[in-house]
Amino acid sequence: MADSAQELAKKRISRRRFMIVGINAVGAGTALLIAAPIVGSVLSPLFAKRKTPWVLVADISQVPVGVPTAYVVNLPIDEGWTVPPVPRTVYVVKLNLNGSVEMLTLSNVCTHMQCDVHWDINLKQFLCPCHGGLYSITGVNIGGPPPWPLFRYEHKLVGRTLYIRNVLTGA
Ligand code: FES
Repeated sequence: MADSAQELAKKRISRRRFMIVGINAVGAGTALLIAAPIVGSVLSPLFAKRKTPWVLVADISQVPVGVPTAYVVNLPIDEGWTVPPVPRTVYVVKLNLNGSVEMLTLSNVCTHMQCDVHWDINLKQFLCPCHGGLYSITGVNIGGPPPWPLFRYEHKLVGRTLYIRNVLTGA
């Protein structure tokens, strides 16, 4: 009888043990309450739906047809966290297609290894200086190692003013 009473007493949680467990539980709960908003505010930009903003390029009414013209634009990079806009070159290309002028806004980043291409006035092609990649006036890869056409920025015209945004599409 005395033995079983002793065993029962051992099995019971002592007051000291109860206090330790209670203090640890309260501490863990408090830490969680403090950490949750901090972790949430750090990670929330990753899950927020962001709209890529339109960025003003220029009044392009003077861009001649058939002559790609480069503009440098500070484009916001959509990384989730706020990062400063990055300067990017966009080529505005006006083409006369069966009497109507069509416009393209080409990225100058080579699709081979991301060197900067430029419009070569003598070749009348975009030339990549790194490995001799060539692109037509519409950005189609026509020579050298580039595997794809130049990417195009989404664009819109408001009157004579061109806006682009950092959304790239294929040719
Ligand atoms: S990076 Fe342009 S051809 Fe290689």
